[in-house]
Amino acid sequence: MLLCLYLKIYFLFTAMIQKYICITGASSGIGQALAEHYSQKPEYTLLLSARNQESADILASKFPNAEIYIADFSQKDSWTHFAQNLMWKNILSCILAAGTGKYGAFGDMKTSEISEQMQVNTTSPLEIVHSCREAFQKNNTKIVYLSSVVADMPLKNMSVYWASKWAMNYALGRISEQYPALSILNLHLGAVQTPMHITSGMGEMKGRKLEDVIPKIIFAIEHKQGNRWIYPDWFLASYAMWPILKIIFSLKQLWKKY
Ligand SMILES: NC(=O)c1ccc[n+]([C@@H]2O[C@H](COP(=O)([O-])OP(=O)(O)OC[C@H]3O[C@@H](n4cnc5c(N)ncnc54)[C@H](OP(=O)(O)O)[C@@H]3O)[C@@H](O)[C@H]2O)c1
Repeated sequence: MLLCLYLKIYFLFTAMIQKYICITGASSGIGQALAEHYSQKPEYTLLLSARNQESADILASKFPNAEIYIADFSQKDSWTHFAQNLMWKNILSCILAAGTGKYGAFGDMKTSEISEQMQVNTTSPLEIVHSCREAFQKNNTKIVYLSSVVADMPLKNMSVYWASKWAMNYALGRISEQYPALSILNLHLGAVQTPMHITSGMGEMKGRKLEDVIPKIIFAIEHKQGNRWIYPDWFLASYAMWPILKIIFSLKQLWKKY
């Protein structure tokens, strides 16, 4: 009984003094590359999420010193349990990199695919932030969300993915206003070469190489807050042109109508 109490206090105490970097979606793409970067820094302990036991075993062999939790972010119980694990820990950055996309016409999508995208990309990160906000505020945890170019400029056949990222952009903006003491970094990323484009059904995509983008993401995590854009340069140029293009499109529509 006394030993149990001692161990409990010991683990609680070490969890409070250790500095954690939490990364969701660490089994692939951007999350995995960030986990590789932070695993080289002995001053941090990695806290990683894996969707299932198989992914957890792979992560455990890659990152033997990390704490690994199984969390399927399409399942409410799963993300609620994951959030409870974060509350007692001194987390320096909570990088919400788990995400999913489905490419295709809205009508061709199964309803389960619609809910999965909304839950993984929007509801679960929102609820994690909600549950942990006091702890995050106390520990000055930086909440990092990976938003997308798609949320700023909707692309064809990505309606649900767009909605999930767009909703998060606005929610995080309003949360920042209501809780200025919360440190939030919302990264708007252009296309990056990761397995996501294949799993989403888009196929191979031209985009920046992961190794070119990761240093920019790390720099933003370590030095920036609020909304930050990491687009390819050509996109920034066309993004600046967007209001002008919109006026041209509207004039074209008017011309067709009358
Ligand atoms: N790549 C891009 O061009 C791009 C651009 C803008 C924004 N982003 C965003 O960046 C984030 C990372 O994307 P990525 O390109 O690195 O994609 P990725 O390689 O497909 O990685 C996605 C990660 O999310 C995890 N995940 C998916 N569904 C999950 C679920 N239900 N429960 C738990 N984990 C789940 C995956 O786990 P499994 O390995 O088990 O599937 C994987 O670890 C996403 O939020 C994405 O929207 C990506």
